[in-house]
Amino acid sequence: MQANITQLIEDITAQDWGIIPDFLPAHLTHVLAQDLLRRQVAGEFKPAGVGKAQIRTDIRGDATLWWQDADLIDAQKTYYQNINTLREALNEAFFISLQTFECHYASYPIGAFYQRHLDSFRQNNSRFISCILYLNTDWQASEGGALRVYNTDNETHTDIFPTFGTLVCMRSETMWHEVLPAHRTRYSITGWLRRQEIF
Ligand code: OGA
Ligand code: MN
Repeated sequence: MQANITQLIEDITAQDWGIIPDFLPAHLTHVLAQDLLRRQVAGEFKPAGVGKAQIRTDIRGDATLWWQDADLIDAQKTYYQNINTLREALNEAFFISLQTFECHYASYPIGAFYQRHLDSFRQNNSRFISCILYLNTDWQASEGGALRVYNTDNETHTDIFPTFGTLVCMRSETMWHEVLPAHRTRYSITGWLRRQEIF
């Protein structure tokens, strides 16, 4: 198994989250960032909803575009293949059966945030691992925009900056997290590895 996946599995085991820096070859991350921008300029993004699809910019201010199987460029297909390798490794390590992956591009305008939340829905707990790939070149800590994960000890948190090429993975049901506002537009691909619904 790739060393970075082994490390990620150790980290998820210990703390319910982990990262893989440079998840894809850099040129592919660039192609994904360009694809995101092209589609956003083309007006394909929509303000993200919460709950029953209400727009609540006081809760989350990003705009998203879900990936559609009929409309994938090669770099998106390669991303799916890499996530699939990760999915198989997670299944083996945790004796689970993650079956599908769904994801969207996300764009946070300057000042937008996403309040503290869990990714797993009360009505549907099929989301098991959240995976976020960041598409921002040369991100500086002074620009803000960290993903703040609340450690399972409930006392401390860790800030992860949305650095180009970094993949963050976390347990969707247990990891409380929020996106802090940034001084710069913040781009990512947010997705979920899912198992069959248990209830
Ligand atoms: C989400 C989310 C985190 C991030 O979309 O649910 O928490 O760092 N995103 O973009
Ligand atoms: Mn989230």
